[in-house]
Amino acid sequence: MDDNSLIEQVESFARDYYERVLARPNIWRTHVQLVRKYALELAELEKVDPRIVEIAAILHDIGRIEVGEEHYVRSHDLSKPFLETIDLSEDDRELILECILKHSTRYASEDNKTEVRIIQCADALANLYDEELQEYSRKTMLKETINQAFSKLLNKITLDSARAIAEPRVQQLQALLEQDN
Ligand SMILES: [Fe+2]
Repeated sequence: MDDNSLIEQVESFARDYYERVLARPNIWRTHVQLVRKYALELAELEKVDPRIVEIAAILHDIGRIEVGEEHYVRSHDLSKPFLETIDLSEDDRELILECILKHSTRYASEDNKTEVRIIQCADALANLYDEELQEYSRKTMLKETINQAFSKLLNKITLDSARAIAEPRVQQLQALLEQDN
C-alpha cells in the first residue's frame, strides 16, 4: 500500500473521532494540523521516517475527552486496535504507539527516541503557533501564568531543531504580552 492511502485511512479514522465522537472539531482542524505540520518539518530535519510521526501526530489526542486525566493513555489505547487494521510493520506500529503514549509533558526527556521527541516538540510548537489560542491566553490569563506556560512548553522541546523554531516565537509572544499590559 502506498503511503498516501495509508495516511488517508488514518485521517478518516481520526477525523471522525475528533469531530463526531469527541465533538471537538477544533482539535482536528487546528491543533492536530499544526502538530502534523511541525512533526513533518522536524522529521525532515532529524532524518526520520515522516510516516511514523505523521500518523502519531494525527492520532495523538484522540483520547482527549473532557473529563478525566491521562488522555495520552486513552489515545494510545484507542489507537492500538485501529493501527492493527492498517498496513504497518509491527516495529512501526509499536513506535507510533510509543510516540502517542509519551507525548505528555511528563515523558519529556532527551533519552527518548527521536520520533517520540519529535511528537513532544511538535505538540509544544503547535501550542506556541496557535494564533487563536495565544490570543485567547493574552486576553484571559495573567502574564505570569502565560510565562509559566511558555517555560513548560520549552521544557518539552528537547530537540535543537525545534528550539530554533520555538525560541523566536516565544520572544515574539512575550513582546506582545508586554504591549498588552
Ligand atoms: Fe496535542
